[in-house]
Amino acid sequence: MTARCDLSPVWAELQAHYAASGRGFDIRNAFKADAGRFGALSFEAPEVFADLSKNRIDAPTLTLLLKLAADCGLEARRDALLRGDPVNHTEGRAVLHTALRAPAGSDAPFNTDVQASLDAMLAFAESVRRGERGEITDVVHIGIGGSDLGPAMVVQALQAFGRRDLKLHFVSNVDGHDLAPVLAGLDVKHTLFVIASKTFTTQETLANAQAAKAWFLSQGGTDVARHFVATSSNTAAAAAFGIDTAFGFWDWVGGRYSLWSVIGLPIAIAVGVDNFRALLAGAHAMDQHFASTPLARNLPVLLGLIDVWYRNFHGFTSRSVAPYHQGLRRLPAYLQQLEMESNGKGVDLDGNALALGTSPVVWGEAGTNGQHAYFQMLHQGTDVIPVEFIAVKRPNHGVTGELATKLADQHRKLLANCLAQSQALMQGKTAAEALTEKAPTASATLDRDVLSRHRSFPGNRPSTTLVLDALTPRSLGALIALYEHRVFVTGALWGINSFDQWGVELGKALCNQLLPRLDSGDTSGLDGSTAGLLTRLTAA
Ligand code: F6P
Repeated sequence: MTARCDLSPVWAELQAHYAASGRGFDIRNAFKADAGRFGALSFEAPEVFADLSKNRIDAPTLTLLLKLAADCGLEARRDALLRGDPVNHTEGRAVLHTALRAPAGSDAPFNTDVQASLDAMLAFAESVRRGERGEITDVVHIGIGGSDLGPAMVVQALQAFGRRDLKLHFVSNVDGHDLAPVLAGLDVKHTLFVIASKTFTTQETLANAQAAKAWFLSQGGTDVARHFVATSSNTAAAAAFGIDTAFGFWDWVGGRYSLWSVIGLPIAIAVGVDNFRALLAGAHAMDQHFASTPLARNLPVLLGLIDVWYRNFHGFTSRSVAPYHQGLRRLPAYLQQLEMESNGKGVDLDGNALALGTSPVVWGEAGTNGQHAYFQMLHQGTDVIPVEFIAVKRPNHGVTGELATKLADQHRKLLANCLAQSQALMQGKTAAEALTEKAPTASATLDRDVLSRHRSFPGNRPSTTLVLDALTPRSLGALIALYEHRVFVTGALWGINSFDQWGVELGKALCNQLLPRLDSGDTSGLDGSTAGLLTRLTAA
């Protein structure tokens, strides 16, 4: 068994396979050669249907990738994760976000503690929703990174399950332009602040929390203890801040995996207890799929293997995510932290420098907006960028009458766009085909052959389409858990620690050193660029 996939003998087999047929693989020809391709390469997981058939893979590729997973002991590593072994070895911690969504009474680690913590958080959320803490109309959630992106993304995605009379605001940036407009127009009597920070030491969050508290007092607010609550694993620091009500959690919950914990408080306030539990149940269903489905039909495993195929053999350095649902417009930002903070690593578990590429750049925008921005580059640019489409079959616009009819029609347009983009990326258009077409805006004087080359598309650009029947708490939970496990799979194959984030530390330390210089203007000992910029920014 080889822990790092590039040291496995199967790696060389994959390299040979890539040279023989992977490099020149044409998805269009693969469909022509195999009428059953869609059926063979589409998969069902809880709440998520996945069409992998528009990828540059075939049965021999998958067979070899699965052989690689077996040789790297992927199942044993997955089991160690789920069992609670200290897989985050640089911090000596277990990684047990899956335990947070295990049902009451299950044999998942820490189940009694988890249920008690969940019950307390949900009871508090209900008390806010029922008006037992005064008439709360606005909840301002202050946190950053994993203490912001997950809750903010989920609350936005589940807006249809929220209440119009209860508004959730998310403030993350230390830039006061984030907090100021949120506070403007709020009434202290009807506002609840949730300060979310695993460590309760994060500069941005503490600065915003202090500013919010000062604003609260300046507006005549008197009961800080009633209007400020914290979600943190450092409840002592929250108490020192003056917060009585703090919901704690454990060091085995990573920040970017924490929305299932008390960090999910704003979600529970927004959508209520039953919907929060449904979110957990959806994630748990995906956990079970990941834990027990044979690797050849295990969706997070298959997605992770294709990621390795593209990153390390095809050399694709980026992946674009295009959710065709406006509610999921923050999903790409959430996935950026999940994937790039987890797998943006340069050494293996033993600290050896890696000779293979790790996390791709993950980016994207909701469809159809992205089509009118960067899809040009996806279709005709010189880089091949695999795209992940997310389509939702049934909309939930929450309207009636004529507007409902109109929006139902718009939903068909949305789905047609989603299908058309993956079709266009794969199909392409030859210059000869372009030559036969009349282009309405084409120059009348330009040579037709030249024009046809501008108007051709290479095609053979890969994509995956994930389909949800509806965007619900349960399906969203499953979708997020799918991504979490996929990130684990690629990290495990690369032989890295996906659960630490030392790469954020240097910038934090340098920021602390530079901060006093913003007052003094002192540039001594700084490099020329930093000194020049500091002078520019501090000059009277
Ligand atoms: O950006 C680094 C990081 O540590 C993330 O991993 C984390 O999600 C974020 O900062 C916020 O940390 P905390 O919840 O401790 O405020």
